[in-house]
Amino acid sequence: MCDNCGPMKPAILVTKRIYPEAIEYLKQRAEVDYADTDDGLSAEELAERVRGKRAVVSQLTDRFSAEVLARLDGVRIIANVAVGYDNIDIAGATRAGILVTHTPDVLTDTTADFAFTLLLAAARRVVEGHHYVHSGLWTKWRIDLLVGQDIHHRTLGIFGMGRIGQAVARRAGGFSMRILYHDAVRAPEPVERDLGLEYTTAERLLGESDFVSLHVPLLAETRHMIGAEQLRTMKPTAILVNTSRGPVVDEAALAEALERRTIAGAGLDVFEREPHVHPALLTLENVVLAPHIASASVDTRRQMSMMAAENAIAALEGRRPPNLLNRELWAS
Ligand code: 8YV
Repeated sequence: MCDNCGPMKPAILVTKRIYPEAIEYLKQRAEVDYADTDDGLSAEELAERVRGKRAVVSQLTDRFSAEVLARLDGVRIIANVAVGYDNIDIAGATRAGILVTHTPDVLTDTTADFAFTLLLAAARRVVEGHHYVHSGLWTKWRIDLLVGQDIHHRTLGIFGMGRIGQAVARRAGGFSMRILYHDAVRAPEPVERDLGLEYTTAERLLGESDFVSLHVPLLAETRHMIGAEQLRTMKPTAILVNTSRGPVVDEAALAEALERRTIAGAGLDVFEREPHVHPALLTLENVVLAPHIASASVDTRRQMSMMAAENAIAALEGRRPPNLLNRELWAS
């Protein structure tokens, strides 16, 4: 008989570095195999290390294809540290009986703040200004030095009126902007009224907006939703902002539009093959580039880490994970 032995703790794999308080929380409740680096695991390494584990705390760089899922024998839950979950084949996970969770809400305002940061920076040429001053080029005041586009009283077009789209619209109200939006599903009437939204077609939104901001999930229907044709529809003074997923935009077509100035600028936080960026974008001055940091505030990234940890532990303790995506699995 063993006096110190409690019931065996379940084993969890954390595939990549997360905030320490989340690791502490997990360690108090489970045996944690922590891949304490930013490298991420290959499909092979994942299959190897997941053996004997009941949960995986994952990030958007971990790809859970049908083949990978088939190798997650015994895993009850994948707790993704992200609101987006295009890295996981949800239908496949459901078939395999694996719960999948994400981290909504905690990042909504932070991500909307950043979409607006990119919009403002691109419109008012902040990065160009920084380089200009930094490199000592600023020797005299000029009436038309780095003149940009006004934001106030202009038209903002939002694709995707979910949580983040609405938070962006709320901010646009503070700039007295007119707001058009398009979504596969129209927002409820009270939301439209409160935020002063006008629902319209994708084509009209593109043709009338001074700023176009993308807040759709990456799905088969949204892949390359903004391509050469859509960019041609936009005004030559318009600015495109993308904080959703890179493949929503055809990056080569965007680079060409920016190069030819058929649109005025862009603010991009996400790319088609991160961390690779289309080489033409790296040479252009009319684009503001960020390394997928829209949700990267200290508080938000901490909360996302904790939320994923709590989802994982809930499932292992037999409770319904608060942010469950494949809810049908819980009912059964
Ligand atoms: C995160 C994101 O930076 O939540 C998402 O879907 O794209 C970002 O907020 C990223 O997923 C962290 O893993």
